[in-house]
Amino acid sequence: MSTERAETHINGMRLGPLTREIPECVRDKYTVVQTILDFIAFWILIIGHIIKGIYRSIFGYPKKELRGSIAVVTGGGGGLGSLVALRLARLGCTVVLWDINKQGLDDTVKLVKGIGGKCHGYVVDLASREDVYRVAKTVHEEVGTVSLLINNAGVVSGQYLLDTPDHLIKRTFDVNVLAHFWTVKAFLPAMIEQNNGHIVTIASMAGHVGVAKLVDYCSSKSAACGFDEALRIELEVRGIKGVNTSVICPYFIRSTGMFEEVNSRFVPLLNSNEVADRVVYAIRTNEHFAVMPGYFRLLMPFKWLVPWPCTSEFIRKLVPDAAPAPVTPALSQESESLSPSTHKSKLDSRPMSLAPPARHDRHV
Ligand SMILES: NC(=O)c1ccc[n+]([C@@H]2O[C@H](COP(=O)([O-])OP(=O)(O)OC[C@H]3O[C@@H](n4cnc5c(N)ncnc54)[C@H](O)[C@@H]3O)[C@@H](O)[C@H]2O)c1
Repeated sequence: MSTERAETHINGMRLGPLTREIPECVRDKYTVVQTILDFIAFWILIIGHIIKGIYRSIFGYPKKELRGSIAVVTGGGGGLGSLVALRLARLGCTVVLWDINKQGLDDTVKLVKGIGGKCHGYVVDLASREDVYRVAKTVHEEVGTVSLLINNAGVVSGQYLLDTPDHLIKRTFDVNVLAHFWTVKAFLPAMIEQNNGHIVTIASMAGHVGVAKLVDYCSSKSAACGFDEALRIELEVRGIKGVNTSVICPYFIRSTGMFEEVNSRFVPLLNSNEVADRVVYAIRTNEHFAVMPGYFRLLMPFKWLVPWPCTSEFIRKLVPDAAPAPVTPALSQESESLSPSTHKSKLDSRPMSLAPPARHDRHV
């Protein structure tokens, strides 16, 4: 252990690629020479990747074959998850859907099988680590080794922070962030063993920009973005080349039910089918970071360049009210007939916003 450390470190500094070649007199510290060489190498790398990017944008990116892969889609019982599942099944994947909503799950399994796809549905509460590990083991035994994991399930509370009950804040983090740790810990070892895998994090633009009434949601999505980036770097540091990660950051999406009633100006809500296409494209081209709409990528640096009042004004004008739909009449009437404790648990266990997920848009 100490010998290994002596070989890889000098004066506590990790050796750079050229440190061994430079003269003894300048080897004591991480030298100026090393820094200059690192700097030049870094710029060569940047220019190389810009040229590669231009070439790929003109001639297209190579797309990886997914036929025969086993894909787990969390939150696959509705919204974006079901649309992605349909597309993956079309490409020849065996799709494994995880959702807390049994009805949505059954509907989506039927839809996928209806187009000739292979599909399995499992009821899982992603907020429960034990449930995630248990069902992951069952999937491994009953379906096989998972090589594609899409962490898509998400929840939103949609209230001012001080009005948001503690348990809903906790639930947001349990589903939107912590579940990613448990699913990745369950499936990554087999991916590493086979040197083949892809982990997709469905985050949000809300992971990059703060919005009122979405304090828990934005911070959970920001954590999800950090999770993806740190995991990717960790895989690179460990030299694991066959396992890729992608983070998808869409703006508000139409027809999934989550932000159906959002008040957004200037930028139209995204079409859920186009977002699903984008997710699959990112998987097939091993894209690290996909933002929708694409031009937001150019806007993001402005956040750090302009004074805060400008950023704040822009965000407040863009999203005057992000709160999801108020309680629907159906649920209100139903809730009147429930005891207070039953009503509370019904609201707490709702998978998403109170607006029922729209299912009319689910074509491939
Ligand atoms: N809808 C948008 O405007 C939007 C925008 C950006 C990002 N996103 C993200 O996209 C993803 C999909 O969102 P959507 O719009 O399809 O929402 P949706 O509500 O239609 O679908 C989410 C699915 O997750 C499931 N789910 C929720 N809690 C669960 C739990 N504890 N265990 C298991 N399953 C659970 C739900 O049952 C539902 O089927 C989410 O991560 C969301 O944050 C959505």
